[in-house]
Amino acid sequence: MKLTILGGGGFRVPLVYGALLGDHAEGRVSRVTLYDTDADRLTAVARVLGEQAEAVPDAPAVVATTELDEALRGADFVFSAIRVGGLAGRAADERVALDLGVLGQETVGAGGIAYGLRTVPVAVELARRIARLAPHAWTINFTNPAGLVTEAMSRHLGDRVIGICDSPVGLGRRIARVLGADPERAWIDYAGLNHLGWVRGLYVDGRDELPRLLADPALLGSFEEGRLFGAELLRSLGAIPNEYLHYYYFNREAVTAYQEAEQTRGAFLRDQQEGFYARMREPGTPPLATWDRTRAEREATYMAENRDVAGAGEREESDLESGGYEQVALALMRAIARNERTSLILNVRNRTALSALDAEAVVEVPCLVDANGAHPVAVSPLPYHAVGLVTAVKAVERAVLEAAESGSRAAAVQAFALHPLVDSVTVARRLVDGYTEVHPQLAYLDRP
Ligand code: G6P
Ligand code: MN
Repeated sequence: MKLTILGGGGFRVPLVYGALLGDHAEGRVSRVTLYDTDADRLTAVARVLGEQAEAVPDAPAVVATTELDEALRGADFVFSAIRVGGLAGRAADERVALDLGVLGQETVGAGGIAYGLRTVPVAVELARRIARLAPHAWTINFTNPAGLVTEAMSRHLGDRVIGICDSPVGLGRRIARVLGADPERAWIDYAGLNHLGWVRGLYVDGRDELPRLLADPALLGSFEEGRLFGAELLRSLGAIPNEYLHYYYFNREAVTAYQEAEQTRGAFLRDQQEGFYARMREPGTPPLATWDRTRAEREATYMAENRDVAGAGEREESDLESGGYEQVALALMRAIARNERTSLILNVRNRTALSALDAEAVVEVPCLVDANGAHPVAVSPLPYHAVGLVTAVKAVERAVLEAAESGSRAAAVQAFALHPLVDSVTVARRLVDGYTEVHPQLAYLDRP
């Protein structure tokens, strides 16, 4: 089995490789091709993988290349984990938005739209190339904003592209743990879009355990999302939202906190990673230990401002363990490659799972996975408050896709203007001006 990772010089690639090293079963991935536009980053990451593989006799062979076609030929699975504009681009997304008084986060609000406008044309080009050179490959999209980028790629790859995120899985696991249930045996009723979904039930042996959690303030205070949102809101919703909904339900506070922060998340990660790749260029640097220290620091500071706003304190030890993205990706790959049937929460085309959206809309819902791919399961209808957000944000995503396809500036303005977290069309216009000024990748928005 050959796995190709697009964005193979990326910082989180060792997590994926670490997961692969634990798989010794027949039909596992035996060859990994790392593709990146930056040879220097490829060298750094390959050094980390080299040390990871040292004690593992059947470690998958690793090849690094800057030739896309060579990377894609013969691939059974393609992981797409590119970052158009790098972390400097992410930091610029945040700055432009925050200076105009709106959120700059890479997946939510104005920042997510800017990142989407930059990424979609590149992701579409990659999808076309995959369809031509590796038509039988399954593509797993990691790139944020994951739902939007997956939908863009699905127009060329159909159901052979599946988007993943670890936040619903992490949320389900935390709720199960608090309730004393085995996360492997629990059925999580989760639905929405990527970074915009709600857990409405957690079933063990057919019985919904969520009401027991919602009724117990001590239990609600004992896990991350419980502390982020607070018992009163969670009870009134009758559901546990994905942590990214904090940016919606506490938008004003989040914007202020990020405006006042010493550094945005993107700027912190940009500097942190520049330091990491620079150290990796020095011959004496121990690759794995250096990478692991950097990773731990990144995870400990994840969503720190949101936690401050909510007074939620430090992250828990169990949330810092890895086992997120890479485990979801590995489970998905195994289920497809070996027809090991399983259920996972994934980003796939809706078909009829959510009645408020059309069949082609990419949604984040529980799926049954087997050798034929991921099949969304029908879930109970979303309540009106969720339908409102989900349909509004899907309309924004469609405007982004239209802008990326047509180069229309009006479509780009519409994308920002329709977003529930952008409060004025004037601000939307300024956002388009500001982003086109700082991002050369947006020069294509040259039609009226
Ligand atoms: C969560 C989200 C991802 C995001 C990751 C890292 O796992 O679901 O979409 O990429 O956090 O966030 P960071 O701020 O460290 O880049
Ligand atoms: Mn995610």
